[in-house]
Amino acid sequence: MPYTIAHLSDVHIPPLPALSPGDWFSKRVLGLFSWHRKWKAEHRPHILDALQRSLDELAPDHICITGDLTFTTHPGEVAQARRWLQSLGSAESISLVPGNHDAYVPGALEQACEAWAPWMTDDSSSAQQFPYLHRRGGVDIIGLSSGIPLRLPRTVGRIGSAQLGALHALLASIAGDDRPCVVLIHHPLQEGAARRGKELLDREALREVLGQYAVDIVLHGHLHRPVRATLPGRRGRIEVLGVSSASAFGDRYAPAHYHLLEFDRDVGQTTIALRHVCYDRGSDTFVPGERELLTRVPEPT
Ligand SMILES: [Fe+2]
Ligand SMILES: [Fe+2]
Repeated sequence: MPYTIAHLSDVHIPPLPALSPGDWFSKRVLGLFSWHRKWKAEHRPHILDALQRSLDELAPDHICITGDLTFTTHPGEVAQARRWLQSLGSAESISLVPGNHDAYVPGALEQACEAWAPWMTDDSSSAQQFPYLHRRGGVDIIGLSSGIPLRLPRTVGRIGSAQLGALHALLASIAGDDRPCVVLIHHPLQEGAARRGKELLDREALREVLGQYAVDIVLHGHLHRPVRATLPGRRGRIEVLGVSSASAFGDRYAPAHYHLLEFDRDVGQTTIALRHVCYDRGSDTFVPGERELLTRVPEPT
């Protein structure tokens, strides 16, 4: 049986709570206005229900979530997201990274990281930190944090030199193990994927670090549409997969979808296959697509 990982993103879990008087003069007011004007009709609770039914049916061994659980990182949204994460399965079966909407105002990311620590704490440490390493089912999963508080309308991200240095050290420490390696990040790191104002600022530095090591797959969100790219890597190429929002009706961007990755150990190698699981409006269900070979990872000799 292959080891399976579902990758989903940008759920922007509805509904948004009412703002408290302390928020009236913060960026959250603009976020709430934007939510009711543009996004409330897009991110629908019944699609999250359909997502849950699909995950129950396909029963992935692990779930990777690449950020934007909230819209304004309001404490009520953070608590709601925590309950949603708990409903998905055990903490060990989920790896989470935050997005720009989870760092909406100064100080919010720290509060979200504290509330969501069970899903983004390094295996070897009780302290929440980025990058973290989760070793699950023969696969190394590395989580990065790229969300930073910003003035609207910018939604850029940044890894930062401290996290890049720690990533370098982490990848070097596991380089000899040669297991399939998946990196999670909210913002896309490939050139040209995000328009100016939405991009990862230090993407070139991140690509340079990842390219030196045996990284196989980068999973990201942020764009609310499926995108695919390859980058040069130590094993030849790194597959980059961007996913739609997992709660989107599809009127503004792409309809909801998520990735299902299948890691199958064979003689001398692990094959990694990909299936797109796409939301169908007519049936209100997620429908798995055809399985395609994504890449092969040779086992160390
Ligand atoms: Fe998003
Ligand atoms: Fe985002």
